[in-house]
Amino acid sequence: MLTVENTTYYHTPGHGIENLCFTVYEQDCLVLLGANGSGKSTVLSLLAGLLTPQSGKILYEGNPVKPGEIGIVFQHPDDQFITTSVMDEVIFGLENLQVPREEMTARAYQALDEVGMRWAIERHPMTLSGGEKQRVALVAVLAMRPKILLLDEVTAMLDSHARSDFYTLLKTLKKRYTIVMTTHIVEEYLFANRVCYLQNHRIVFDGDLPAFAAHYPTYAMPFIIEFQRTCHLPICIQTYEECVKQIWPSL
Ligand SMILES: Nc1ncnc2c1ncn2[C@@H]1O[C@H](COP(=O)(O)OP(=O)(O)OP(=O)(O)O)[C@@H](O)[C@H]1O
Ligand SMILES: [Mg+2]
Repeated sequence: MLTVENTTYYHTPGHGIENLCFTVYEQDCLVLLGANGSGKSTVLSLLAGLLTPQSGKILYEGNPVKPGEIGIVFQHPDDQFITTSVMDEVIFGLENLQVPREEMTARAYQALDEVGMRWAIERHPMTLSGGEKQRVALVAVLAMRPKILLLDEVTAMLDSHARSDFYTLLKTLKKRYTIVMTTHIVEEYLFANRVCYLQNHRIVFDGDLPAFAAHYPTYAMPFIIEFQRTCHLPICIQTYEECVKQIWPSL
């Protein structure tokens, strides 16, 4: 499990997160919600070790996070590419982790197969479509065999077809990885077993979806509209929890 203890990070005064405390448990699929600029990407960058807390600490199984333990994929995959072929891209990350050379290729192929991108092995990453680039960025991270996968608005740039393909993949990944993701897309909450909601630099809610929907009606509204659309039933405002539970019986 990953623990975030009293962690504060301000980029500049008024822009950051304050005294954050939460735990990511094994097999969680946690969605981090909040308005633009509320600090979601800052939190993920801290978890990934790309930023160092100004105070507090982040520990995985009680120890500082080791390279490769936490993998992150961003909204813009272009920002992540360094090399000139998909295979090199995957190998590059493994070299940094000092994975034995004989193991690298096997890991790369396994990760490529996992997301259905083996066909693109020799392609220059920049020649791929947005959806394909996003998958390659994911392959590079999966090959590192992270304990936790961070997804920062990874579907924001995808069209509806690529997004739906990504959801199919996410369903599989969810079974095998602990995931923390951010999104502004309602359907994606569906994958989460837990919501952390950021407001005023802090987590103001940490709980399951029905409880979140009950606390924050603005967020609940899209669920209710969807429910009404699929069931053709009138829903009254008092039934948020029941409504969300009916949409997502697994909750
Ligand atoms: N490198 C940086 N330098 C200065 N300020 C930054 C930097 N990165 C983020 N910020 C500021 O910190 C705050 C939190 O930004 P962050 O990107 O974490 O928000 P977010 O919740 O991910 O937003 P969005 O939903 O738009 O992606 C914002 O006010 C932003 O302007
Ligand atoms: Mg962000």
